[in-house]
Amino acid sequence: MKVLIVGGGGREHAIAVSVKKSKRVDKIYCAPGNAGIAEIAECVPIGAMEFEKLVAFAKEKEIDLCIVGMDDPLVGGLVDEMEKAGIRTFGPKANAAILEGSKAFSKDLMKKYNIPTAAYETFTSADDAIKYLETSDYPIVLKADGLALGKGVLICKDKEEAVAGVKTIMLDKQFGDAGNTLVIEEFMTGREVSVLSFVDGKTIKTMTSAQDHKRAGDGDTGLNTGGMGTFSPSPFYTKEVDDFCKAHIYQKTVDAMAAEGREFKGVIFFGLMITPKGPRVLEYNARFGDPEAQVVLPRMKNDIIDVCEACIDGRLDEINLEFEDNAAVCVVLASKGYPVSYEKGFPIKGFEKFKAEEGYYCFHAGTKKTEAGIVTNGGRVLGVTAKGANLKEARANAYKATEWIEFDNKYMRHDIGKAIDEA
Ligand code: AMP
Ligand code: GLY
Repeated sequence: MKVLIVGGGGREHAIAVSVKKSKRVDKIYCAPGNAGIAEIAECVPIGAMEFEKLVAFAKEKEIDLCIVGMDDPLVGGLVDEMEKAGIRTFGPKANAAILEGSKAFSKDLMKKYNIPTAAYETFTSADDAIKYLETSDYPIVLKADGLALGKGVLICKDKEEAVAGVKTIMLDKQFGDAGNTLVIEEFMTGREVSVLSFVDGKTIKTMTSAQDHKRAGDGDTGLNTGGMGTFSPSPFYTKEVDDFCKAHIYQKTVDAMAAEGREFKGVIFFGLMITPKGPRVLEYNARFGDPEAQVVLPRMKNDIIDVCEACIDGRLDEINLEFEDNAAVCVVLASKGYPVSYEKGFPIKGFEKFKAEEGYYCFHAGTKKTEAGIVTNGGRVLGVTAKGANLKEARANAYKATEWIEFDNKYMRHDIGKAIDEA
């Protein structure tokens, strides 16, 4: 069969590697893809938001399955457009992707269906929001309602910072229209865990757990980024936590969406905070995480095509989702200066070693193929993933593999997965 993957980051490279493993697939296309994906798929220069071109391409090539990796096209309704054109597509329709697309929607859903999350209020007027801050406890969390490239969350330590934050989001519109509505939320403490799941509208099957490292610097210092590294599984995701989430979060979310007439098919990503009072939902995403996919998918035993099709057809109950009994760690190699400003265009060396070694992956994020070879083309350049029998071994292997890659201004965190030493 012929598969089209929409997106062009490390997550889509991890999806492409999984799809490539399927014996059922003859040909993979990726729009727009990247230099790493180009080694296993035919990349086509169509942007993820160019819906008409994507649909026309899928029809022309008689695509059997389209997998949408990114949030923007999901929230914008690419799955609806593909399905209208008769292309089988994995991912939620726009009316369900709103679970990620609007934080106000997802918070209201959790409140209505009694799904544990932080207490909150929603505001459409900056004056009302600022009035509310007079009597709040601090720190407090401000969230722009809409998609903001993962940057629309501000944690404010006092009233002064929070008032400035309201102005930044609602009046200066730093995140554009995403800031027309503001959610102000109670600050929670605890350990964060990401749980991705497959959903077919009724049935939900969770994948193995993972943990991201969002800050740019070692010891969780510096600015928020798109993710500097991940490990899987999380030792903090215990059986007790899993039981609680199964009873109070996962199925309840799927049922709530169905009850609202917003049947969800695709991946629900649960961003959880394990607080002293128990697990709480920090956020939902309507897609695989990046870089969570880079540690979760390499450990999945199932044929990803079988699972995607079961989700589309409402047969997920027939699938026995299985993961390897090992661990994986992904260390992101970034350009020095990320996430603020950085140079691009440096040649990258050292990819060969990954092809020779089992259990090692070099997922491309910001790279470009030129006549001079593959060069850096973004803040997050590569995601180096390694497996191991356990987290410690996976971590040692991943850091060893980061040394195989060379480019000018290479930057990484040195403590990805260090938290496992405390577990
Ligand atoms: P989000 O985009 O909602 O995942 O938020 C980004 C990050 O902000 C999360 O991964 C958390 O580290 C942090 N965060 C979000 N909401 C809260 C909260 N209510 N309390 C504490 N930290 C939060
Ligand atoms: N790693 C967090 C995300 O994909 O949103």
